[in-house]
Amino acid sequence: MAKQRRWYPDDSVGLAVQGYAWLPDEWRRAGAWSAVHTRLLGRRAVALRGPQAVRFFYDESHVRRHGAIPEPVRGTLFGHGAVHTLDGEDHRRRKAIFQGLLKDPRRVGDLARRVGQAWDEAVAGWAGRPRVVLFDEASRVITRAVHDWAGVPLAAGEVAATAADLTAMVDGFATLGPRHWRARRARGRQERRLAALVEQVRSGTAEAAPDSVLATVAGHDELEPELAAVELLNILRPTVAVAWFVAFTGHALHRWPQQRDRLREGDLGYAVAFAHEVRRFYPFAPFVGGLAVRDLTFQEHRIPKGAMVLLDIYGQNHDAALWPDPYRFDPDRFVGREPGRDELIPQGGGDPAGNHRCPGEDVTVALLTTIATRLARLDYTVPEQDLTISLRRIPTLPASRFVLIPGGRAGAGAAAGPRADLARR
Ligand code: HEM
Repeated sequence: MAKQRRWYPDDSVGLAVQGYAWLPDEWRRAGAWSAVHTRLLGRRAVALRGPQAVRFFYDESHVRRHGAIPEPVRGTLFGHGAVHTLDGEDHRRRKAIFQGLLKDPRRVGDLARRVGQAWDEAVAGWAGRPRVVLFDEASRVITRAVHDWAGVPLAAGEVAATAADLTAMVDGFATLGPRHWRARRARGRQERRLAALVEQVRSGTAEAAPDSVLATVAGHDELEPELAAVELLNILRPTVAVAWFVAFTGHALHRWPQQRDRLREGDLGYAVAFAHEVRRFYPFAPFVGGLAVRDLTFQEHRIPKGAMVLLDIYGQNHDAALWPDPYRFDPDRFVGREPGRDELIPQGGGDPAGNHRCPGEDVTVALLTTIATRLARLDYTVPEQDLTISLRRIPTLPASRFVLIPGGRAGAGAAAGPRADLARR
């Protein structure tokens, strides 16, 4: 067994300062080691990556979630009592609700169709506008469509404010600054709105379309209205979060304009490959974590009971052992082949039914292919703007949130270096 130190300094500041670059830097320091040993928030932490690590991490006899997710993340991103925090039978029972709603191709196709329609209507209204901020527009389009799809009422006048709340919850989970407090207030407003709706549906004072997402979640009487609201939000919020990937899609089409031509042809297989490469290449979820159930060993590395075990999502998606030339944007990696279950893990790994892997991957890919193809066919120009994607900020975006000017012919994008605009500032 490799000799391991007994004491590791706390590196919470390293994470706060370096963001997505924190673990990659640690990997470089670790050299050939298959784990990074450190300390976070005073607790021993071991970071892993690679398909074997994925299988190790998602084995419930190794890692549990209860007590692992810090309150600031539950109070903004997930909600208290959410599916993300459960283990064992409790988790599987709750997860089945999401699987039933999100893994049904008919429902996924219906949502993608509604998003396409809402996008076309929004674009029709862009004529004459001096500029459009792609991230903001995408978040509103998806907010409108996902509410319609879920059967959750939302007046036209409420779309922008609701989209702002749903994106704020994602934007503020990894900081304790003003963004964090905005996220908490947004969550409070949205939980109150949806808990009241669930109560009305249960008491018969509001109608929910039969078989809708709202009717299904409200029908789970074992969930208090507040908890039903948390889980409804765990469908609405992350769907709107696809707007992050839409902004990155705008960035990719600008930096690598040949991608536009390929997408314009309307080959669905290529559009899916493009969506996978956007999810692999661009930084979104940095890592996921749980707690060691008992003393563990992973490839000669001792992990003491109670230590935090991190699965390094960003690191694995840029690991040269899995992805040759990982900082090259290349959808051809996925043409004609499905990504390996435990290789491409932007939304977690393992089996979504049995563990915590995201149940929203089909939705994410369907929405991205729908919007990416439309964006590739759209005529617009890209004005001068700051396209830096800060690796220090979690979650990150092009600094400008990607601005375009509707109309005109899309000009050739400025070629980017191998790491595009990813920057350590
Ligand atoms: C925007 C793109 C998305 C990203 C980057 C993303 C990422 C993730 C990640 C990293 C996890 C945690 C996996 C783990 O803990 O092991 C997760 C879980 C989850 N995601 Fe997503 N997700 C996205 C979209 C969606 C969508 C569209 C939905 C629903 C419509 C969704 C619903 C969920 C739920 C309910 C969980 C909790 C699963 C569980 O704990 O069992 N996500 N997602």
